[in-house]
Amino acid sequence: MKAVLVEPQQRLVLAETPDPAPGPGQAVVEVEAIGVGYVDLMYLRNGATSVPGVEIAGRTKQGQRVLALVLSGGYAEQAVADTDQLYPVPEGLDPFDAVALGVNAMVAEGAVQRTAVARGERVLVRGASGGIGVLATQIAHARGAEVTAVTSSAEYGERLRTLGAAKIVDRTRERPGETYDVVIDTVAGPQVREHLELLRPNGRYVLCGGTAGIPEPEAFAPLMSNFHTSPTLFAFSLTSVSPEERRKSWDRVLALVADGQLSAVRDRTFPLGEAAAALQYVEHGKSFGKVVLLNE
Ligand SMILES: NC(=O)c1ccc[n+]([C@@H]2O[C@H](COP(=O)([O-])OP(=O)(O)OC[C@H]3O[C@@H](n4cnc5c(N)ncnc54)[C@H](OP(=O)(O)O)[C@@H]3O)[C@@H](O)[C@H]2O)c1
Repeated sequence: MKAVLVEPQQRLVLAETPDPAPGPGQAVVEVEAIGVGYVDLMYLRNGATSVPGVEIAGRTKQGQRVLALVLSGGYAEQAVADTDQLYPVPEGLDPFDAVALGVNAMVAEGAVQRTAVARGERVLVRGASGGIGVLATQIAHARGAEVTAVTSSAEYGERLRTLGAAKIVDRTRERPGETYDVVIDTVAGPQVREHLELLRPNGRYVLCGGTAGIPEPEAFAPLMSNFHTSPTLFAFSLTSVSPEERRKSWDRVLALVADGQLSAVRDRTFPLGEAAAALQYVEHGKSFGKVVLLNE
């Protein structure tokens, strides 16, 4: 099979390599679509040398249509996945959409669950145009919340309105002017503090990404200075979620898709051989929704 190998200086090359061999409790997936994200950039920056790629959609040798979450090895024509990390993909959901939902949908859905977003509440989504944000916006809207989406352009703002955002904040020109019951933050970085200050009494803040970096400890000072308002801070990583909980989350995601309340948001595709260009595109930070590699 062909796979994207990591050569010296983290150069990515599509090359022939032996087919992967499954161990006990594993299955081989014929890969059709591969999700590309920040997590892959971090994997390479941290000096990893094996084939990148953590989420794939395709078919098992038995013909099951699946989404598979793996630790690495996804940028390939075939990959090995643990069978408890295979999630069913219904007919009608194509492989591109399956990975465009994938990890991001489980993170967005998990963030909305943890913060118990309720009908009529005000929710602020930071990084709303990103892979997680476009899904969090739709899921919070589906629960009846009034969603404010933070983004960086009028065009993205308009697209986020079509996904259910009631209000748009253009972060290049303004700051959110209201207070919120829930903040879903995929960005983190130096502005966490000012966003924590926006919580209403009994508000919940979930950090589920860090595109703008790790905040300084002082960012969390409002938890004590606003103690009388009982704020709650969650950090939410899918890594800590058991396969059973992930499966339940995926089922809830598929139910929303079937109801027409949630749709995958496609940015663009690249062929597997252009993995380096796809990663550069993601690094540039101008995508709206999900970037995907396709095996043709
Ligand atoms: N919790 C988990 O288990 C989990 C799983 C997977 C990924 N993640 C993490 O979640 C984060 C987001 O992932 P993603 O795939 O949604 O990313 P993404 O598609 O690249 O989107 C990030 C968005 O954040 C905005 N942004 C970028 N830099 C910013 C800055 N300096 N200040 C404010 N906004 C900025 C951009 O939108 P605008 O320009 O429109 O504002 C961008 O589209 C990443 O850190 C990723 O590693 C977490």
